Amino acid sequence: MRVTIFGSGYVGLVTGACLSDAGNQVVCVDVDEGKIARLNAGEVPIHEPGLEELIRRNRDQGRLTFTTDAQAGVEHGLFLVIAVGTPPEEDGSADLRHVLAVARTIGTHMGEYKVVMTKSTVPVGTSDKVKATVGATLLARGASVDFDVVSNPEFLKEGAAIADFMKPDRIVVGTDNPRTAALLKALYDPFTRNHQRMIVMDLRSAELTKYAANAMLATKISFMNELENLAERVGADIEKVRTGIGSDPRIGYSFIDPGIGYGGSCFPKDVKALVHSARDAGQESLLLAAVETVNDAQKRVLFGKISRHYGGRLAGKAIAVWGLAFKPNTDDMREAPSRVLMEDLWAVGATVRAYIRSRWTRRSASTARGRTWCFARTPVTRSRAPMRSRSAQNGRNSGVRTS
Ligand SMILES: NC(=O)c1ccc[n+]([C@@H]2O[C@H](COP(=O)([O-])OP(=O)(O)OC[C@H]3O[C@@H](n4cnc5c(N)ncnc54)[C@H](O)[C@@H]3O)[C@@H](O)[C@H]2O)c1
Repeated sequence: MRVTIFGSGYVGLVTGACLSDAGNQVVCVDVDEGKIARLNAGEVPIHEPGLEELIRRNRDQGRLTFTTDAQAGVEHGLFLVIAVGTPPEEDGSADLRHVLAVARTIGTHMGEYKVVMTKSTVPVGTSDKVKATVGATLLARGASVDFDVVSNPEFLKEGAAIADFMKPDRIVVGTDNPRTAALLKALYDPFTRNHQRMIVMDLRSAELTKYAANAMLATKISFMNELENLAERVGADIEKVRTGIGSDPRIGYSFIDPGIGYGGSCFPKDVKALVHSARDAGQESLLLAAVETVNDAQKRVLFGKISRHYGGRLAGKAIAVWGLAFKPNTDDMREAPSRVLMEDLWAVGATVRAYIRSRWTRRSASTARGRTWCFARTPVTRSRAPMRSRSAQNGRNSGVRTS
């Protein structure tokens, strides 16, 4: 089948690589000329286990190509996948500028039936906006072409994205058109061979499902972080508490590891966007507002411990920090708790010696906010055991040493 993916970031590249590996002809379109040039030169701009090899194999076999030519992209695919960023606005709402720009591009170049799939994480009602934007653009050029808009939120986890895409827990498809549902079933069939994992629902429920999943996981993290702080105060061992509650199948072990707060490109912005959506719908989201407040405070807990350990005398100290990404097996530093930690260290006059393994992130991080960073090529190994946090999503990646 012919697929075009708009946006060659984490979601777009993983989706493109996996769909092409299943035998589809995939074109990845991005507006970032530098990124496309590097992809065409064989570089992969993110660290994601298995991705580089998958891209190389499918490029070499002619099933996966990268371009900035949006018109060629629209003409190529029966499935047009929107996988561009939806960053937060100042007020916490999702910025739909890139999503709607792709919708206009599709309306401008579409000449035959297409299935437009929204994979970006978007608020309830966005698919209707995509539909209206494509329709209005077609109308403006006097064209009449049939198309469907489907919500197909992505649930992959950075660090395990290929496995998540190849063997998904579920594939959520929001559509009210059985013909479109059948087309998506055929597209995803290679990934659901063992048993059917596609859950078809209406558009709005599919859009809300994605936010609900991330908000639930963020809530579990903030709950455990609050309990960890309490355990420390009352002399209990949070690890034992974790084992004690996780053994209850109604609670389970996943996502109940305490740490230094959640980060990354999804949880912080998606919790904010859901709070905002609720407010728009006339409902205050008291629980999610508290989840955010707990998380913001948790990102500062490790600094407080370091500061207390050294009696507040951190000025002039060199602090080694490694595991800068928001969780293991990725080089993604978006909203990483390590950033807050380093800002706090700089604010009291300490210097930071940071270890990061990705060439790409090293380049962008070194210019971040005009700060001077000192990168070690290998993790620092001297001196005492590092202070670290534990869970996978919950800032587990970070460790700290001082010298
Ligand atoms: N990263 C994750 O783990 C993850 C998981 C599930 C869902 N999501 C959601 O998927 C979406 C994409 O996330 P990401 O992390 O891949 O983003 P990203 O920032 O890594 O990549 C987005 C890409 O879109 C490109 N782009 C912007 N406008 C474009 C346009 N008009 N045409 C073509 N390309 C354009 C950008 O240049 C960039 O390369 C977001 O809505 C995110 O919330 C992300």
